[in-house]
Amino acid sequence: MKNHAKLIKNRKSTRDYKSVPVAEEKLEVLIDFFHQGKRLIPEIEMEIILFREGASVFEKLKGIAGYNGIMIEAPHYIVIASEVKEGYIENTGFVGENVILKAVDEEIDTCWITFEDSHDIKNALELKTDKEVTGIIAVGYGMDKKKILHGVDTGGNYSKADMRVIEDNTSFRYAIEEIVYYKEWGTPIDNMVLEERGLAEAFAFLRLAPSTQNLQPWKFVLKDSMIVLTIKDRKEISLKEEKMDAGIVMLSFYLLASETLYEPHWYLGNPLEEEKIPTDYRVVGWCKL
Ligand SMILES: Cc1cc2nc3c(=O)[nH]c(=O)nc-3n(C[C@H](O)[C@H](O)[C@H](O)COP(=O)(O)O)c2cc1C
Repeated sequence: MKNHAKLIKNRKSTRDYKSVPVAEEKLEVLIDFFHQGKRLIPEIEMEIILFREGASVFEKLKGIAGYNGIMIEAPHYIVIASEVKEGYIENTGFVGENVILKAVDEEIDTCWITFEDSHDIKNALELKTDKEVTGIIAVGYGMDKKKILHGVDTGGNYSKADMRVIEDNTSFRYAIEEIVYYKEWGTPIDNMVLEERGLAEAFAFLRLAPSTQNLQPWKFVLKDSMIVLTIKDRKEISLKEEKMDAGIVMLSFYLLASETLYEPHWYLGNPLEEEKIPTDYRVVGWCKL
């Protein structure tokens, strides 16, 4: 198994942390990686703010960050702030997920933490930045037993989802044929086609990318030497969360394809204007195959 595939496989969202701090040098590794790592849109200016003392952050963000305001208690937090430009949320998901995978490499546990409003976070944490807060990540060492997310909407098939959760001790994921279409919307891809194109392994691991409420809102269409990413508009989550999920899955594809096939470049926009895509799906971007 290639390195990035291994990191993606080993990553899990951690919600319970030991009260053991991460060594300063290791935290610095993550900060340096943020500054040097690949970006989806390099022109967008970003900042990383590391909160070394997590306890006060936890108190301040209770009620305003986390699912239904349920904040995750961790020894440290990373806050990402960004200039507001076309694609800046996707860019945050892309860059932040790369830091998360670097953390896996350093055997540090993490979890993305959702929130609604940048102003609330800036006020609560008294941040002076002129940029918008776009991402929060809990950082630390997890308890040995991981909590996994139950009872999410997995296409109306709760019992099947829960069974898979128990079997794998990992969160439910859709099958490749459910998320990759071939030539036209709705036609499940045959794994042989992915094998022939050298993409089978990339998609097998890409499915493991994290997403808000584990909704895995992505579907891909392989068509005319392009791979096109679409995201489902869900009433349960905000547009910002959908864009984060899109950026995260774009990073996953970028890393996996780079190590097995070629270095893909993601373009934002819709190359499939003629295609009949359901109205509840949005084309985010595409890359050449
Ligand atoms: C943008 C984003 C925001 C998230 N926010 C939260 C959160 O606030 N609380 C939480 O417990 N998990 C959060 N998660 C973690 C997801 O629930 C998790 O990725 C998903 O359930 C799949 O589980 P896994 O990451 O362990 O594979 C978030 C994930 C993403 C991508």
